[in-house]
Amino acid sequence: MAMRRLVAGTGWKMNIGAAEATRYGSELALRLAQIDVSAVDIFVLPPFTSLVAASAALAATPVAIGGQNMHWEESGAWTGEISAPMLVEAGCRYVELAHSERLYHFAESYELVRRKVDSALRSGLTPIICLGETAQEKGEGRTDDVLLEQVLTSLAGQPDARVADVILAYEPRWAIGGAQAATPDYVAERHAILRNNLKAHRGQDAADRTRIIYGGSVTAENGPQLIAIDDVDGLFVGRAAWTPEGFARIVEIVAGAAQNKGTGQTA
Ligand code: 13P
Repeated sequence: MAMRRLVAGTGWKMNIGAAEATRYGSELALRLAQIDVSAVDIFVLPPFTSLVAASAALAATPVAIGGQNMHWEESGAWTGEISAPMLVEAGCRYVELAHSERLYHFAESYELVRRKVDSALRSGLTPIICLGETAQEKGEGRTDDVLLEQVLTSLAGQPDARVADVILAYEPRWAIGGAQAATPDYVAERHAILRNNLKAHRGQDAADRTRIIYGGSVTAENGPQLIAIDDVDGLFVGRAAWTPEGFARIVEIVAGAAQNKGTGQTA
């Protein structure tokens, strides 16, 4: 039985400004106070300008906050960028890297992601590294090779013992912002193969301890089936969690799964 702590997270993308973040945070705090969330790691990823408001509103809760991106250097002449130490100072414990919208719209590469992972870990942030195949790669039958390549590139240079300090987020690019999540069978197969590949390349311990979460059109309706899958260690949600009620329902689903999977015992 896997003992990985389950994860419930949401990325707000370019939504929810500072004033709204305060309202969201206060409402979420009230709703989560009604649920036993002790077995779940919970994160919210607001836009940069909402980080401080979200951090303040969620200060008395187990909800951690994180950035949606960052630069790989700590400071310097990089107009418009934000560094890992700046995220830490704004109250972040996490940072999302390689979201498909960053790769697609801003031409980010996994080579840059590798540098960002290194900088994030050095600052004590937990990187949430997104992985995913495009519809074309899926059609060509290359999905599992693509995912492995993304993982190995992102983690290149990190010792095996550090691998479990990141969270891997499998987010098939064709399922993000779409009408439907990937099917549970498809997700189960990808996660199992990914974990096996992790074992082959980074060892048993890394494979056993690293959380692999799923994202892409997760809802309160399909969430229970997805989180019930053995190798799925969390749900990463966009649209369905952009209201505090919506996210509280997702957290509740993951907390219920932690009971069923018996993953709540270890830290
Ligand atoms: P949706 O849940 O809106 O498809 O977005 C998923 C996502 O991008 C999580 O990172």
